[in-house]
Amino acid sequence: SQFRIALIVGSLRRESFNKKLADGLVRLAPRDFTFHHCEIGDLPLYNQDDDGHQAAPVKRLKHEIGESQGVLFVTPEYNRSIPGVLKNAIDHASRPYGQSAFAGKPAGVIGISVGAIGTAIAQQHLRNVLAYLDMPTLGQPEAFLQAKEGFFGADGHIGEGSQKFLQGWVDAYANWVRSHAG
Ligand code: FNR
Repeated sequence: SQFRIALIVGSLRRESFNKKLADGLVRLAPRDFTFHHCEIGDLPLYNQDDDGHQAAPVKRLKHEIGESQGVLFVTPEYNRSIPGVLKNAIDHASRPYGQSAFAGKPAGVIGISVGAIGTAIAQQHLRNVLAYLDMPTLGQPEAFLQAKEGFFGADGHIGEGSQKFLQGWVDAYANWVRSHAG
């Protein structure tokens, strides 16, 4: 069977390293996996007053997650946490209460930053949120990546130095999703 993954990138930056990383991970994925890149840049700021009449981009995001067998978060670290745009998207798709799009969906968490600890603290914060949202989240292997010279090749693809490690990570996430398939 086919596995569809909702891909959520925590950076809106045009030249985002995390977008490039996400594209690279998609290239490494097994053939029975497809990925849908979820747009989060057009979501309004979350306001609980709107829970009863969610905006079209919110409904779209919830639909995309609902149609998926897993969610892959690829995010930078902002001020030792996850970016506000990502938290905004998560808050939207978790509501209204009892109608979260996330419940039970197997998650993967990965990210790249220019800092030496490679989004480690952002990932820990995100894991806390995903635990509350009842998402079984891949624990191992962990991947803390630093955007150093050569991480991405001239073609923008993941460089040779990290290919093998990230192949292992993608394979582990794919198996995680398979093992949680209904
Ligand atoms: C950062 N950056 C950063 N890096 C890090 O390792 N830890 C951090 O806490 C922060 N904090 C932070 C806050 C804000 C507001 C910005 C804009 C940046 C640097 C960050 O790693 C770098 O900008 C990356 O390039 C962001 O990821 P994308 O946009 O390339 O995917």
